[in-house]
Amino acid sequence: MNEFLRQLPKVELHLHIEGTLEPELMFALAARNGIELPYASVDEAKAAYDFKDLQGFLDLYYQGMNVLRNEQDFYDLAMDYFKRARSEGVMHIDIHFDPQAHLQRGVPLEVVMAGLLRAKEEAEASLDLTIGMIMAFLRDRPADEALHVLEQASPYWKFLDAIGLDSAERDHPPVKFQALFARAKELGLVRVAHAGEEGPAEYIAQALDILEVQRIDHGVRCLESDDVVKRLRDQQTVLTVCPLSNVSLKVVERLSDHALPQLLAEGLKVTISSDDPAYFGGGLLENHLACADAFGWDEDTFRMLNRYAIEEAFVSEQRRDELL
Ligand code: HPA
Ligand code: ZN
Repeated sequence: MNEFLRQLPKVELHLHIEGTLEPELMFALAARNGIELPYASVDEAKAAYDFKDLQGFLDLYYQGMNVLRNEQDFYDLAMDYFKRARSEGVMHIDIHFDPQAHLQRGVPLEVVMAGLLRAKEEAEASLDLTIGMIMAFLRDRPADEALHVLEQASPYWKFLDAIGLDSAERDHPPVKFQALFARAKELGLVRVAHAGEEGPAEYIAQALDILEVQRIDHGVRCLESDDVVKRLRDQQTVLTVCPLSNVSLKVVERLSDHALPQLLAEGLKVTISSDDPAYFGGGLLENHLACADAFGWDEDTFRMLNRYAIEEAFVSEQRRDELL
């Protein structure tokens, strides 16, 4: 099974590029940029990645990305991950990135975009890997700031496949971003949103009804509402489920307790992703291996999950045909 999963051409729909920052690269960039880290060593950083919940992770995630200052830093971050993912049999990744988290620190949008877009272009030219771009907005920041950033991003709209919504979910319902998502729709951008990770099933319904999203990131708490499950099944809305993330952030205690088998049994269009691999114990291959271990899925199940991801990925029709 391990060799099968390594060889299986895999597609990932839910990945935060800032969450791929391995401690080794964090230390290298800190040295390059003259930044002091709160950790004495790589091991000390890894030891700190023991999270109580989503907020506990987000605190370290935003702190870690402080080493990203220059265009080359964003390029190195992304290119490092693209090479690693490709070596694990990943063929396509839709990446989320968080412009507000960089703007807040005084890093201009142009710096972020130039680095990420150069890495995307080079990966697509040299690695047989394709990359989709999801500009994500931080739901624990004001809605009008998000709208302002979307307008500021006008030179880059043509490079975006979608906008997304992430960060601390509790008490930040999708409805808060109604105007942002309406504007994105007007611009012809696809919409996706994190919902039902720590927030209630009601937030999934809001994301569908009010934000008109095409995918739900996470969505595992849909099982708390028969209505929401029925809607997701009827519309075959994709859920980008992140098994190791859910364990790390205590959404579930053990992977063997995870609702993934139940989500599949409900007829939902489930896909597997790694979310923030540098923080949650591994990339897409590790997530597949962990699921094989916890659920005993056969090869056909993994083929089906990856087919779902390919069907929904932000790729050209030609690339989709190649991958299917
Ligand atoms: N959830 C919400 N926001 C995030 C995450 C996540 O898992 N990773 C990075 N931002
Ligand atoms: Zn996420």
